Amino acid sequence: MEKTFVMVKPDGVQRNLIGDILSRFEKKGFKLVHAELKQVSKELAEEHYGEHKEKPFFGELVSFITSGPVFAMVLEGENVIATSRKMMGVTNPQEAAPGTIRGDFGLTVGKNVIHGSDSEESAEREIGLFVGDKPLVEYKKDDSTWV
Ligand code: TYD
Ligand code: MG
Repeated sequence: MEKTFVMVKPDGVQRNLIGDILSRFEKKGFKLVHAELKQVSKELAEEHYGEHKEKPFFGELVSFITSGPVFAMVLEGENVIATSRKMMGVTNPQEAAPGTIRGDFGLTVGKNVIHGSDSEESAEREIGLFVGDKPLVEYKKDDSTWV
């Protein structure tokens, strides 16, 4: 089954949004298979956001993402990568549609509350970076008749 990496960024953790955000994914029908409150190191942040290394906002991005704990999770479900990105809304919260996580909770592009993998390749890479050797939690959730 498809998996993606999602994290509530330090602003979301500070603003007590973990529960509301996780709740949206749970209610949608996605299955949580890993969750961790985690302090991101500078090394991990730089690796995770490596594609933006040359961008002018890279330094601020790394210092923001390491400024406090993140709530990192792996979600599983049908088409979870694209659908969870849709639920997050576009990168700039001022342009994100109401009803999306960034549209409802964010105001600035620098502090946009949530991260989610944007492709199968980045999901695999980011799960590897953040979860590493730890096994994902395997359990049965028989909601086939409900979701
Ligand atoms: P990006 O991968 O383009 O967005 P997304 O998180 O939607 O995949 O950018 C990564 C993060 O970098 C983004 O969530 C917020 C930050 N960022 C800025 O601070 N300024 C910017 O102009 C952009 C494009 C992104
Ligand atoms: Mg991105």
